[in-house]
Amino acid sequence: MSTVAPVVDIDWARIRADFPLLRREVHGKPLIYFDSANTGQKPACVIEKVDAFYRNHNANVSRAVHALGSEATEAYEATRVRLAKHLNVASEDLVLTSGTTFAINLVAYSWGLPRLKAGDVVLLTRMEHHANIVPWQLICERTGATIRVADLHPDGSLDLDALYAAMTPEVKLLGVAHVSNVLGTINPVAAICKEARKRGITSVVDGSQALPHMAVDIAAIGCDFYAFTGHKMCGPTGTGALWARRELLASMPPFLGGGEMIKEVRYDGTVFADPPHRFEAGTPNIAGHVGLGAAVTYLDDIGMDAISAREATLLAHLTEEMTAIDGVRIIGTAQRKAAVVSFLVEGAHAHDLATLLDLEGVAVRSGHHCAHPLMAFYGVPATCRASLAFYNTHDEIEAFAAALRKVRRLLG
Ligand SMILES: Cc1ncc(COP(=O)(O)O)c(C=O)c1O
Repeated sequence: MSTVAPVVDIDWARIRADFPLLRREVHGKPLIYFDSANTGQKPACVIEKVDAFYRNHNANVSRAVHALGSEATEAYEATRVRLAKHLNVASEDLVLTSGTTFAINLVAYSWGLPRLKAGDVVLLTRMEHHANIVPWQLICERTGATIRVADLHPDGSLDLDALYAAMTPEVKLLGVAHVSNVLGTINPVAAICKEARKRGITSVVDGSQALPHMAVDIAAIGCDFYAFTGHKMCGPTGTGALWARRELLASMPPFLGGGEMIKEVRYDGTVFADPPHRFEAGTPNIAGHVGLGAAVTYLDDIGMDAISAREATLLAHLTEEMTAIDGVRIIGTAQRKAAVVSFLVEGAHAHDLATLLDLEGVAVRSGHHCAHPLMAFYGVPATCRASLAFYNTHDEIEAFAAALRKVRRLLG
């Protein structure tokens, strides 16, 4: 991992105990949850915050003048401020969304649709999640722009020379994942966005898999848009945000219309609210975002650098254990990696592997991981993926390796 802080003075066993779900059993075995890249588990403080919101403060936001309305609005807006601090940006430039998918679609429809035209190119990398591919395809179909793909080295790192060479004058937008959900590769997004900016290319960074693992300073990255999801970083599902450069956000028309996003509505026209509320039509996921605020506070209290360092030791251990098992192939071996390990076992289908591991109490994801083009790059239909978080343990890694050995024997 990028930042290596000393993993001292942190009682990781106590931190793990904050996650009630991790105490359960599956198929009579202690659960080993290695699917945090899919969605992360929630600490009790987040669950309690959501519960307390519904019990004590539930009301709609930005509408009612009564006490509950003010409390709900305050709690919801406090998350925007909390997130902004966490990411080193201004809260007015953060649009709260249902997650990354919504955030990238917002960029595609509000920034892309009015601007892109035939002859323009949207540059994406081979490792993008479908959420950073399909919205652009939909916009390209409507505008006549086309998609260009920048390839990878076999280890799963971006071929930066190829990426920069692909940044020709026709390229208007670059979409790049901060961290790959399949390979774990951490991309040098600050350097990449700097190159894009030099060439007048607008950049969208998909931060879904970065925020759970590391400190992210959006201002230092220098991108134009940064999208992320809350449920992978200890927050509730249906939460997330889009950060956008202020002048871009100010120039963008709304994505969806409705309540909350207007100043004045007449039948002959509507005056829209200023950003970020212009992009938050309808009743948002209030309780979810209140919970996300608690999640960010929880992560900040541990410290993102400590989390990165903890996960680096877990990743090194997991990689060592898996490399020692005959017939296991790890896909994605870049130097800079988050704690995500995609793998295959010789002669076994990924789904069979995941099913048998589940019977051992191990939750890993199998499939294409919403990254068909990446699967095609590696010539495989699917992989298994073990993805860790700071709440996992070295004992779990050893138990997982034993389960994998057993499953390999069964399948071999
Ligand atoms: C890299 C990446 N981008 C985008 C997404 C989509 O996030 P969401 O489904 O929360 O909108 C995911 C989720 O798996 C992801 O891993």
